[in-house]
Amino acid sequence: MSTRPRVSTRISAISESATLAVDAKAKAMKAAGRPVIGFGAGEPDFPTPGYIVEAAVAAAREPRFHKYTPAGGLPELRQAVAAKTLRDSGYRVEPSQVLITNGGKQAVYEAFATLLDPGDEVLVVAPYWTTYPEAVKLAGGVQVDVVTDETTGYLASVEQLEAARTARTKVLLFVSPSNPTGAVHSPEQTAAIGRWAAEHGLWVVTDEIYEHLVYGDTEFTSIATAVPELGDRVVILNGVAKTYAMTGWRVGWLIGPPDVVKAATNLQSHATSNVANVSQMAALAAVSGDLSAVERMREAFDRRRQTMVRMLNEIPGVFCPEPKGAFYAYPSVKELIGKELRGRRPRSSAELAELILEEAEVAVVPGEAFGTPGYFRLSYALGDDDLVEGVSRLAKLLAEAR
Ligand SMILES: Cc1ncc(COP(=O)(O)O)c(C=O)c1O
Repeated sequence: MSTRPRVSTRISAISESATLAVDAKAKAMKAAGRPVIGFGAGEPDFPTPGYIVEAAVAAAREPRFHKYTPAGGLPELRQAVAAKTLRDSGYRVEPSQVLITNGGKQAVYEAFATLLDPGDEVLVVAPYWTTYPEAVKLAGGVQVDVVTDETTGYLASVEQLEAARTARTKVLLFVSPSNPTGAVHSPEQTAAIGRWAAEHGLWVVTDEIYEHLVYGDTEFTSIATAVPELGDRVVILNGVAKTYAMTGWRVGWLIGPPDVVKAATNLQSHATSNVANVSQMAALAAVSGDLSAVERMREAFDRRRQTMVRMLNEIPGVFCPEPKGAFYAYPSVKELIGKELRGRRPRSSAELAELILEEAEVAVVPGEAFGTPGYFRLSYALGDDDLVEGVSRLAKLLAEAR
């Protein structure tokens, strides 16, 4: 009998997406008739705007879209993404520097697969989105965590980054607004971090998928525009999922220097070829239209954000800094770990989240999924009534902790 593992070591090292797992468990409980309120999913609760859906319907009727198209994306979409990037970020790129991907997730994979050789280090600010470590690992890279906490609003400083830099550091991953914390770097902080990266010859991979979801007087700053000294060592990741409520359409993009985009396109041409043309045409309608739909969603998210943060901070043992962007709150629940609750004594945020799901029928994602135990991530991309009901249930249950 062969002693070789059935599943390769590389792939068996990949863990299940914790955020999708929580969402799946909550949906299964719901299907079984339990009134679960889910704060797990990272997707807008709104439908995709009608004009975008209509563009897809029209595309589906056109036989030319029933065929393979260029692996890098429809030329008209690459052009529109280049124009949108100039409009929203002030960053000028040629359409040939845009690779259309199967959602932002594929762009994340392709960016690391294209930039990293085995042993190359990537600086990743924790708490981080669950997909990054897997993408870095699969590419043979080594993730180096730069850990932040609620006392700084989850913002990393140049000093912290510098302390984590070694001779093997190749890439800084920059995510602002951040999933899972909602932290947003100011223009000055962004420029300082970018200049530090440029000074040390690092590449910056910047995930700008939440660019339009910032609140109050917070501004989004593209590090690519803020720091021209980075030259061509910048790769921008983005997509339509969050801005246009299009998570199911699977369209994202990677923008970078021509050699990187060419190499990533070669990879994609063997992996998935072109993104579904109908979805690309929907994305074309989205990025070439105005931003009024996202503005309406942003207002709703802002209202929910304020309600959620206020209610969470009223719960003894919970502390939630104000998220400035995206649609997540990331409270610390460290004070509740080890306390007795309904006859149990959860020893981690993961155990506490499990207990909450069973006892209060509320789904939250534990901080373990984001590299920082002791926290929860709650998405506020759900209806106002459900949000209030869910956090009220949480408050009622947690008030029993002794
Ligand atoms: C920070 C971040 N980047 C990228 C993505 C990828 O989104 P999609 O693959 O749906 O386009 C997500 C989705 O949750 C995200 O939160």
